[in-house]
Amino acid sequence: MSELVNLSPEQDVAVITIQNPPVNALSPGVPEGMAAALEAAERDPSIRAIVIIGEGRTFIAGADIRELEHAAQGHGAPPELHGLLAQIEDSSKPVVMAIHGTALGGGLEVAMAGHYRIATADAQLGQPEVNLGIIPGAEGTQRLPRLVGLPAAIEMCVSGKPVAAAQALRLGLIDRMIDGDLRSGAIAFAREKAIQPGPHPKTRQRHEKLGSPPANAPLLAAGREQARQRRRNMAAPLAVIDALEAAASLPFEEGCQKEREIVTECLASDQCRALLHAFFAERAAAKIPDLSSDTPISDIRSAAIVGAGTMGSGIAMALANSGISVRLKDVESASLDRAIARIRQTYAAAVEKGRFLQGVMDQRMALVHPQLSDEGFDTADLLIEAVVENLALKKQIFAGFDRLAKPECILASNTSTLDIDQIAEATGRPHKVLGLHFFSPAHVMRLVEIVRGKDTAKSVIATAMALAKKLRKVGVVVGNCWGFVGNRMMLPYMREAQFLVEEGATPAQVDQALCDWGMAMGIFAVDDMGGLDVQWHVREERKAFEKPGLRQPLVLDELYRMGRLGQKTGAGWYRYDGNRKPAPDPEVLALVENAARENGIPRRTITTDEILERSIYIMINEGSRILEEGHALRASDIDTIYLTGYGFPPYRGGPMWYADTVGLRKVYRRIEEFHSLHGELWAPAPLLKHLAEEGSTFTAFDAAKASLARL
Ligand code: 3HC
Repeated sequence: MSELVNLSPEQDVAVITIQNPPVNALSPGVPEGMAAALEAAERDPSIRAIVIIGEGRTFIAGADIRELEHAAQGHGAPPELHGLLAQIEDSSKPVVMAIHGTALGGGLEVAMAGHYRIATADAQLGQPEVNLGIIPGAEGTQRLPRLVGLPAAIEMCVSGKPVAAAQALRLGLIDRMIDGDLRSGAIAFAREKAIQPGPHPKTRQRHEKLGSPPANAPLLAAGREQARQRRRNMAAPLAVIDALEAAASLPFEEGCQKEREIVTECLASDQCRALLHAFFAERAAAKIPDLSSDTPISDIRSAAIVGAGTMGSGIAMALANSGISVRLKDVESASLDRAIARIRQTYAAAVEKGRFLQGVMDQRMALVHPQLSDEGFDTADLLIEAVVENLALKKQIFAGFDRLAKPECILASNTSTLDIDQIAEATGRPHKVLGLHFFSPAHVMRLVEIVRGKDTAKSVIATAMALAKKLRKVGVVVGNCWGFVGNRMMLPYMREAQFLVEEGATPAQVDQALCDWGMAMGIFAVDDMGGLDVQWHVREERKAFEKPGLRQPLVLDELYRMGRLGQKTGAGWYRYDGNRKPAPDPEVLALVENAARENGIPRRTITTDEILERSIYIMINEGSRILEEGHALRASDIDTIYLTGYGFPPYRGGPMWYADTVGLRKVYRRIEEFHSLHGELWAPAPLLKHLAEEGSTFTAFDAAKASLARL
């Protein structure tokens, strides 16, 4: 046994407790400790049954992902659990897995080797491995379909999404749900099973749910189609179906062998390394070097939002979804009516899809209070401004906040580009002011950029990070520069796309290249969705920062003047039908061709490679500047921002990780070439040049910075 695993006999039941905080991962020592405890329990004649349970907040959240990372980098083998699983399943005494919190990945695989599984109502069980670019590697692909059948196993393994205990019970993944204390419930359940005549069910010997090859063929084909569509360009979701197919067509041992081969291949892939990076990058973003763990955090229970547009109503939903009461203020009752209708419609659609019950919708609706007045602003814990990008208007709103808010209230702007310090100047309490930049739709998108002004108090930043976590979002602290991190990189990306079109590409060609490469949406489609009027406001405010004489896109202002504002007016870069389906518009192409002719821009054939290099490398270059200026704490924070807020393909790890995989020398060389061809907008960032010349990487830059901070 080890410190990580405790064995405590409760009369005739041995309780084996995993105690490896925070999530009881199967780190080195845990499987060994479990094996030793099982052996001791097996040997002890007074023990009739065994319970395996996790200490703290969860059962077992999986294999140790740090170990997987080492294996993916070619250092060492992946964690080996097969011996332990066989030992559990072959135990002559019934083994009951008592699950609370999460049983994920290797955690669920351990649980499935038990003879019985019981869980608390709030437990979640899943095989999220595809999110890390691998497939379940501890016989999960072989046991899961035996317990839940092939269709549910495909759904769970391809989506990577966990199922709640109630659904797990319906599927046959668990045997009972437990009310009250799990440990005593598990002991009682184990005694019940101990007196039943054996043998106790071994999952590997079960075949009744595996179906027949002819019946499985269409299920597997549909699963593969689902994997191609829902996890575009990703290898693991397709590979996991091969392993599930093996479960249904081969003896258990051969299926396990097939699973091992596939998992080894996945671990050696670029996709896996990128996804592992993404996992740790997201967690690293939660660590702010100058914020100690005892920084005071206030509890946000009530909030008020000014501006009931798309962003305001989305933020209201995000808050209400986490039980925070929210007042939504606008100056026009028609705007409030539209906002409430939008919120109601969104919730009703979720109820219809079975995401939650009508009662939950009613509770959430009751938390949102539309109003034309400032009622309740004096008691709110958080005030959020979510109006258009106009500095003067925002300052006016903040002056009002300052008059109304209680002293401890946090004042946040949802600005996507503007100067937080200037906004804070409108108040007598700049230490309470910060940016909370949500992304549309705010109740869905996970990212919140937390913009730190020069005077923002540490406790305000810590509270904002805690709030993001409470909203189940990813908070990333960014510095106060134009556009912060995300939009600052987005601007050159959007601009470059337009230059490509002026030089001969079409919006559809650019968007197709980006989507095929993995972006969730093409950049022109994004522009149309956000609204060309929003872009126009941003550009107007931005003009003060622009160096005169730089190349500017030619037709964007014209589209705005024509009232082509994107999806909302049925036309922008594309034309839209009643279902918002975009179609290329010859009118736009004619406009671009004319503008190019008038400005002496020769039109030529643009290749997919050029589209991709110019679109992605321009972002990387801007990201390097942001990093060098300290407006992002780490390159990996930039990756997290792009992965959680901008639809960057997760299996490419984010723009900065992607740059590392291409090689900074190559990226830098191409940027130099574009610089000489296209001028000053392509001036290479000094940090990128430095790292490229050193033969270094952004990953190494982050590591060096982290070790300096530890000194
Ligand atoms: N291995 C190692 N560390 C892990 C871990 C794991 N499986 N899961 C979480 N952690 C670490 C995190 O890195 C973080 O560390 P830090 O505090 O040093 O940054 C800490 O645990 C807390 O994690 P979170 O901040 O994510 O905590 P939450 O409470 O928000 O979420 C969770 C908990 C839902 C369990 C979430 O951490 C999670 O989803 N973890 C990953 C689960 C997973 O993917 N499991 C499968 C692993 S692969 C596998 O099992 C292969 C198998 O088939 C052989």
